[in-house]
Amino acid sequence: MHPKKIKEDIFWVGVVDWDRRLYDSLIPLPDGTTYNAYLIRGSEKTVLIDTVDTTKTDILLSQLEEVEEIHYVVSLHSEQDHSGAIPGVLDRFPNAMVITNPKGKGLLTDHLHIPDDKIVTVSDGETMTLGNKTLEFIYMPWVHWPETMVAYLREDRMLFTCDLFGSHLATSDPFYDDESRICEAAKRYYAEVMMPFRKTIQKHLDKLEAYQIDIIAPSHGPAFRKTECIVQSHREWISDKLSNCVVIPYVTMHGSTQLMVDYLTEALIERGVNVELYNLTVADTGKMAMSLVDAATIVIGSSTILAGAHPLAISAAFMTNALRPKLKFASIIGSYGWGGKMVEQLTGVMTNLKVEMLEPVIVKGKPREGDFKALDNLAAMIQNRHKEYNIL
Ligand code: FEO
Repeated sequence: MHPKKIKEDIFWVGVVDWDRRLYDSLIPLPDGTTYNAYLIRGSEKTVLIDTVDTTKTDILLSQLEEVEEIHYVVSLHSEQDHSGAIPGVLDRFPNAMVITNPKGKGLLTDHLHIPDDKIVTVSDGETMTLGNKTLEFIYMPWVHWPETMVAYLREDRMLFTCDLFGSHLATSDPFYDDESRICEAAKRYYAEVMMPFRKTIQKHLDKLEAYQIDIIAPSHGPAFRKTECIVQSHREWISDKLSNCVVIPYVTMHGSTQLMVDYLTEALIERGVNVELYNLTVADTGKMAMSLVDAATIVIGSSTILAGAHPLAISAAFMTNALRPKLKFASIIGSYGWGGKMVEQLTGVMTNLKVEMLEPVIVKGKPREGDFKALDNLAAMIQNRHKEYNIL
């Protein structure tokens, strides 16, 4: 890889990770990712904005091979996919100082053991001159760690946002501009990483309105010369707007739960309610997270195993709870052989959700006529609730 010029004296010096397929050993990355680092050559000082994942340190250093001096390494976010190469950069540029905020300092010390005397902290709104260029640091806590901040390069009207506006999309072009592909990847990224913090992000986006921004440069995926689409998409995702959609993650062992899911799906569609089904044995959980960005309702379907909900259903409920989507309604359907605590287990892991729990439909063995009637009732109840919310 080679540095790529973004603007006069500003270069992309990151790494494209074409092969990465999991993030946090959890989140699927079907399109790989990039770790974007940016080199800014001011007339007096040279700055590196973020670094790359620890495992890619050597590639970053090769990108910096012809750089004589780096004065500052700005750490906008301490997570190791951006900070992991800082120790390597400090070895190569021993005079460089790390710029972060007080919370970032604590995290960099804990995670990377960066010496105290190598770190300079900045306050919210503080500026740093590079000679002919000025960096302003703007705190943006909880996108998605407590220390996160962005940096605004005033003279170039360029905003470095680290994870915010990012996408896990491997591309060799820092300004790759296939909007439909980027929008899909950015929505997946938002759903998997940022959704729990949507209320906080709302406030941060309002704060950014005061800035004139020509380029947004995140630390994953492409940068944006046309900034409106990515900002507006985020505004929509974080808004309170709901869609007329029921997300049904489910798992079936011997077919009874499948019969119930299929019946409920048809019953909802007949009533004008959209459905997105995720068979958890094969589902891409990132796609499910995307469906949860604005869905009004979730219905979890599970078989019973060893007296409880199927582990895949518990995992889906747990993930939904952690992502804190806008959902307003929830229910549970499923089948058991001789007993069990499926409903208690699933509701027990969804306590973050501010939802109305609609009467679950849990049947013994293969569903009978009365059970299908109960599913009809559940579908009708969902239809009514969606009507009350004016989304149907
Ligand atoms: Fe891309 Fe929160 O790290």
